[in-house]
Amino acid sequence: MVININSVYKKFNDLLVLKDISFFVEEGEIFGLLGPSGAGKTTLINIITGQLEPTSGEVKIWGVNSKNFGEDIYKKIGMLLEIPGLYDRLNVVQNLKIYAKIHNIPYNEIGKVLELVNLEPTKKPVSRLSNGMKQRLLIARALLHNPKILFLDEPTSALDPVNARNIHNILFDLKQNGITIFMTTHNMEEAEKLCDRVALLNEGCICACDSPFNLSKKFYKDRKINLIKNNGEKISLDFSSENIRNIYNLIKNEDIFSIHSTEPNLEDIFIKLTGRKLYDES
Ligand SMILES: Nc1ncnc2c1ncn2[C@@H]1O[C@H](COP(=O)(O)OP(=O)(O)OP(=O)(O)O)[C@@H](O)[C@H]1O
Ligand SMILES: [Mg+2]
Repeated sequence: MVININSVYKKFNDLLVLKDISFFVEEGEIFGLLGPSGAGKTTLINIITGQLEPTSGEVKIWGVNSKNFGEDIYKKIGMLLEIPGLYDRLNVVQNLKIYAKIHNIPYNEIGKVLELVNLEPTKKPVSRLSNGMKQRLLIARALLHNPKILFLDEPTSALDPVNARNIHNILFDLKQNGITIFMTTHNMEEAEKLCDRVALLNEGCICACDSPFNLSKKFYKDRKINLIKNNGEKISLDFSSENIRNIYNLIKNEDIFSIHSTEPNLEDIFIKLTGRKLYDES
């Protein structure tokens, strides 16, 4: 276990923002903290990374209490948080050089991290980079000191699907290299695709924490197979040997346009548990 969160509460004046948060993160996994806007994701990631103190409870990384985080911990964790803090008039390499200098990192690491995130060392100032390029630059900066854990607060929220997929591929590669990733997102598809385990956060409470598969299994009560025939007719069938034979015959007669199972996804589970959507597009 690399991160351990034990009964964390956070109050801002009279506002109780986090309530009795407990979970752990295993080495090498991608862990997703999933919740709608205002749920408390940023507050929690800031507490875990030692930037905010919990009102009560404790956070430990590699057994060290967040109250005592020092250079030893910060050397081994990388962060991409809500406020990016890039120098807009400087280019990619100039931005990374400043960071490298502050943290005493040799400049030859810059080329390595840019390769990892597939970013050209363009001469354009950061203000003229696309959102996708800026986000890759931020990941490169978070990786510059070769951390073992990477914390990402909504790494794809401002990105189009293609750029989001680029970031997903980078995160998969990092996981392959043994880096533990802790990320927040309000995008359930992203969480389902990327995360080994997720915690669903609603109004400051964790309402479920497990792998997307286990959660889906747990909430899969009404097992059905939905079919659309070539003429557009929709059929919903129970799991039974007779229905399997019916489906077999439809396939044999090439009379199926589509076939779907009906297990719940993380969005369905979140709605079931909380009565609200993760992300309201309106
Ligand atoms: N420094 C602060 N002082 C007072 N209230 C705060 C502070 N920081 C956060 N809050 C409140 O805590 C709650 C949780 O905010 P937080 O930013 O952690 O949510 P979030 O899940 O990250 O939301 P988003 O998806 O919009 O980024 C909100 O009601 C917010 O207004
Ligand atoms: Mg946030």
